[in-house]
Formats: sequence, C-alpha cells, structure tokens
Amino acid sequence: MEIIENINKDRIPKHVAIIMDGNGRWAKSKNKIRLSGHQAGAKSVRNAIEICVELGIKYLTVYAFSTENWNRPNVEVKGLMQLLVKSIDKELDELKNNGVKVSVIGETNKLPEKVKEKIDFAVKSTKDNDKLNFIIALSYSGRWDIVNAAKRIINDAKDNKIDSNNFNDNDFASYLSTDGIPDPELLIRTSGEERISNFLLYQIAYSELYFTHVLWPDFSKEEFCKAILNYQNRERRFGKTIDQLKN
Ligand code: FPP
Repeated sequence: MEIIENINKDRIPKHVAIIMDGNGRWAKSKNKIRLSGHQAGAKSVRNAIEICVELGIKYLTVYAFSTENWNRPNVEVKGLMQLLVKSIDKELDELKNNGVKVSVIGETNKLPEKVKEKIDFAVKSTKDNDKLNFIIALSYSGRWDIVNAAKRIINDAKDNKIDSNNFNDNDFASYLSTDGIPDPELLIRTSGEERISNFLLYQIAYSELYFTHVLWPDFSKEEFCKAILNYQNRERRFGKTIDQLKN
C-alpha cells in the first residue's frame, strides 16, 4: 500500500472517530440481506483497527449502534447484537495480543444480557493494553451523553462538590462518557451522508470532518489513509488567525 508512505508520521491524529454508514446500501447493491452488509462492515472495523495500530493512532471510536437504531426492525437489531457477540468471540484473542484496549460508551444497561457479558469480558481482558484504545459507541447518542452528564453535575452540585463559579468546559467534559479520552481531531463518515446523527456532539467541537461516498464495507485501509492525508492537509486554527499560528 503505497499511500501509507505519504503520511506524515509527525502529524498523526491521536483520536479518530467514525460514523460507519452504508452497510444496508452495500448489501442492497449486491442483492443481499442487510445483515450481510453489517457482516462485511465488521471486516472494515478490523481493517480500521489494524491501520490505527500501524499508524500509531491512540484512540479509535466507532459508532456501532445509536440510541435511534433501537427503532430498526427487530430482526436487524437482533442480528446486529449477535454480530457483536460473534465479532468479540472471533477477534478478542487478536485484540489482546496486539495491545488493543476495548471500552464501550453508551446506555449499556439497555443491551441484552449476553451482549453485556461479552463486552464486560472483552473490557476486562484487555484493560492493561495501551497501544490502541478501541472505543465502541453502543446504544449511544450525543444528547444522551450530555444530558447524563448534566444529571450527574446536578447531583454533585447538590452535594456541594462543585464550585459553579469556577466550573469550566473541561470540568463539564469530565462528566461525559469520554472522560479521560482526548477529543477526536478527525471524524470520518462514510456513504455520502453529511450529518453528525447525534454522535459525539460535545467532543467534536473542533474536529475536522471528512465525508466520503465510499460505503462502510468498502472502507479499506487505503481509504483510511486517504482520510488521514486529507486531515494532514488541513489548517487547524482553533479560532486563531493564520499569522498567530505561524508565530
Ligand atoms: C450503518 O449502516 C451501520 C450500522 C448501524 C451498524 C454498524 C455495525 C457494524 C459495522 C457491525 C460491527 C461492529 C463492531 C464494533 C464489531 P446502515 O445500516 O445505516 O446503512 P444504510 O444507511 O445503507 O442502510
């Protein structure tokens, strides 16, 4: 893969987040059932993890199941849950051996017992790894994350644990499910849709957004590298002027 040579190793983002979209359309284009699109999508997740390890990206967050996805037909929800369990069974040893630490963000109490158990097991057995933090957003939504943080803040304020005069955005972020995880520098969405769809709303304040028409099951390591190269050609100003940045 030649493209990897063009990547500047000194400007690798720490955290890449992905909205994996287009599994259903990929399946339809091949006259297959939707679930086969998700199965093919699971292979792209594997590719993404591998390329992150190769490039030295420290955090990868994938939007595997949104709060809104609970409204999909039962058979698809069930199929996705089974696919998660199967993927963990299949990949856990390799994740463990390659230094990948698995964690999950979202309303996990809503997940079926079997999925919860598998996830707990994967999280526990990879907890000492530190090469790549692989974060699965499951039953997740950005608004849920923010409202949940607000509820916890209200409780802590009632217990006089918060000084509201000195409470800043970093303090707020420490109540989010992503506490301790740096904000993503790059957010990728596949399949041509250009929306955030209730993903990491608070955390992507300054993220570079990369949209591609490639459907998630076709999102190869090469496509991932294209996204990184595109990111590396952007100028990140954080509200400053170009001159300020040059100095
Ligand atoms: C969006 O495509 C994809 C999802 C809602 C599910 C993503 C899940 C996986 C790739 C499964 C494996 C995940 C892990 C973490 C192992 P869509 O169904 O909305 O596609 P469409 O818009 O074309 O219908």
